[in-house]
Amino acid sequence: MQNPKDYIDQHKDRFINELIELLKIPSVSADSAFAKATHQTASVVAESLRKAGCDCVEICETPGYPIVYADKIIDPELPTVLVYGHYDVQPPDPVELWDSPPFEPVVKKTELHPDGAIYARGACDDKGQMYMHVKAMEYMTANDQLPCNVKFMIEGEEEVGSENLAWYVERNQEKLANDVILISDTGMIANDIPSITTGLRGLSYVEVEVTGPNRDLHSGLYGGAVANPINVLAKMIASLHDENNHITVKGFYDKVEELSTAEREKMAEAPFSLENYKKALDIDAVYGEKGYTTNERNSIRPTLDVNGIWGGYTGEGAKTVIASKAYAKISMRLVPNQDWKEITELFKTHFESIAPAGVKVKVSPHHGGQGYVTPIDNIAYQAAEKAYEKTFGKSPIPQRSGGSIPIVALFEKELKSKTILMGFGLDSDAIHSPNEHFGIWNYLKGIETIPYFYEYFTEMS
Ligand code: BES
Ligand code: MN
Ligand code: MN
Repeated sequence: MQNPKDYIDQHKDRFINELIELLKIPSVSADSAFAKATHQTASVVAESLRKAGCDCVEICETPGYPIVYADKIIDPELPTVLVYGHYDVQPPDPVELWDSPPFEPVVKKTELHPDGAIYARGACDDKGQMYMHVKAMEYMTANDQLPCNVKFMIEGEEEVGSENLAWYVERNQEKLANDVILISDTGMIANDIPSITTGLRGLSYVEVEVTGPNRDLHSGLYGGAVANPINVLAKMIASLHDENNHITVKGFYDKVEELSTAEREKMAEAPFSLENYKKALDIDAVYGEKGYTTNERNSIRPTLDVNGIWGGYTGEGAKTVIASKAYAKISMRLVPNQDWKEITELFKTHFESIAPAGVKVKVSPHHGGQGYVTPIDNIAYQAAEKAYEKTFGKSPIPQRSGGSIPIVALFEKELKSKTILMGFGLDSDAIHSPNEHFGIWNYLKGIETIPYFYEYFTEMS
């Protein structure tokens, strides 16, 4: 293969500027106020794929945001890589905590990113990482270096549960047929410690509502004599973990995959500094399930976390009131073999069973998905490993992540193919948080590494 690095060096300013333009469009899928911009982003992505050399480019309408599909089939006998990514982004809130407006990208140098990082919502998750694939495609087609067939499927609803993508995949198995799925929507350990994500956690996301009296009450006249839904909710939530921080939902651990001592020892070999971890988060101690390390707690173990809790008076000053209702949003991260629908049911049954007399409890499931593990004993993983060795000069470490991309398990079920997660972001890139950014070095390294994956995967196939 001709060296992609030379082409990237020549075109890098344009590559950066194109990404900056894409990041200016606020494609927030969760908020209908951004609907127009989200649709417009699909068109811009489609146009970029056309320019990158795809032959067939379609904007596939769904009941929600469209899916951008594109392909270039050079020879049906050759292998086919299906690239998945998403053009939607998380809401930017709280906007006041950003140092620069979330949809006005700026480049800043930092200690971790001496070549600069682009600050904007979606910079890393996932516009920046998705666009690496578009630019890698441009390099391959412009230099006659495309060794196999390529299909792109870029959706606009990943951050809200990919419901319409599931619908689309189930109905387009033939069209989406492939030999491997390639996704850049995860991270790596550090720029000098490359890693490949080999696992994603599943997810069950629920909302709970606790209702006490039929109206808000004077907290002096009624306080102490009726169940206060906020007090009750706090107590119920507190009881969901025991003194060892094990989750108390009945049956929750029944199907959890336990790793062997050898597997855990292998995991522990990955470089990790607890001191730096605490320092980066300004905490004096880590916290979690007894008997497991920090890296185990955030990857191979299931969790239960409150993501939001509200009710009563939260305005300025004091108001003496017992609210009629209290609410919380709760996520459970799941590991292989736990079925998200089953866990959602177990949670519902358990939560209803612990409600004291005097309140009513409602549990409403939101979305969810299964976890995923990528095998490392196949040619797809080996091709990825070799590509990293080529561009980083080091072998990547296989590492399971705590995040979720629920659609990956569905891909395996419907399309019967394995997914390779070549993520180039860092945990410190602040995805979903204020000041999200993506290192320019990471962006360009991704563009450089991807074509080698195509080359080695085709060779080994
Ligand atoms: N790209 C992330 C998932 C991710 C990030 C996995 C880093 C591993 C490392 C994705 O966009 C995401 O945010 N997923 C959601 C779930 C989704 C159903 C909203 C998540 O993990 O919370
Ligand atoms: Mn993502
Ligand atoms: Mn995300």
